[in-house]
Amino acid sequence: MTDDAASSTSAPPSERPALALPFDVEAIERRPIVTERLVIRPLTADDSDDVWEYQRLPEVLRYIPWPERSRDEAHDHTMRRVGSRLLAEDGDNVHFAIVLAGEPSPGAPGRDRVIGDVMVRVASVEHARLELGWVLHPDFQGRGFAAEATAAVLAFGFDTLHAHRVLAELVAANTASAKLCLRLGMRHEATFVEHEYDRDAGAWLDMAFYAILQREHTAARLAG
Ligand SMILES: CC(C)(COP(=O)(O)OP(=O)(O)OC[C@H]1O[C@@H](n2cnc3c(N)ncnc32)[C@H](O)[C@@H]1OP(=O)(O)O)[C@@H](O)C(=O)NCCC(=O)NCCS
Repeated sequence: MTDDAASSTSAPPSERPALALPFDVEAIERRPIVTERLVIRPLTADDSDDVWEYQRLPEVLRYIPWPERSRDEAHDHTMRRVGSRLLAEDGDNVHFAIVLAGEPSPGAPGRDRVIGDVMVRVASVEHARLELGWVLHPDFQGRGFAAEATAAVLAFGFDTLHAHRVLAELVAANTASAKLCLRLGMRHEATFVEHEYDRDAGAWLDMAFYAILQREHTAARLAG
């Protein structure tokens, strides 16, 4: 455990944790999450070409456990993610498109472009725990879009789904993602040494774990 983890405040007596499940993403389809520059809404089949624009890039795949896929395979993968719409049980996940308002999609200039996506996964119903994952097209990195989108989804996880704890698990060498975790107010809680084996690279990976509690999120929000 890191010093940061050890300094976490002890929990006050709390009610039994309860995620607000089942949750169907249709609710976000009807009322997308709108931030200063972005619209966050469920991924759809029509987003497949925009997703391909970042999913095909080696620098994007570097720290994500996705294999290199052909365009058809990537389309099938996106369709599987699109079809995953309900959060109800451990392991269920849904995927939100990060849409940059006013940025035309390369293949369909009439549509706003999907520049990345955010995953929400039920890590544990019993313990009211969610996990987030994210990816952003490199052309749009370094402008705070990932932070803006994931902060909105994190707030959704606490406010709408009533998570007690939200975590992120990443390859420890993924410094851009680690910085994003800290920007979200997450704490670095542990790094597990040679925790996973990357078959493609033929190498062991250290994995880092970051998390934030509901009361910490509320306190940070109150502090502005
Ligand atoms: C992880 C990832 C989403 C981070 O993207 P990002 O654009 O660096 O993240 P942010 O949105 O937080 O942007 C932060 C950067 O934008 C800069 N920035 C510019 N304008 C900004 C603004 N208005 N608000 C906030 N930051 C701004 C910040 O200074 C920071 O720059 P720095 O990295 O040089 O310090 C991206 O690297 C990625 O998609 N990687 C590949 C996929 C991946 O590894 N996913 C994670 C698997 S666990």
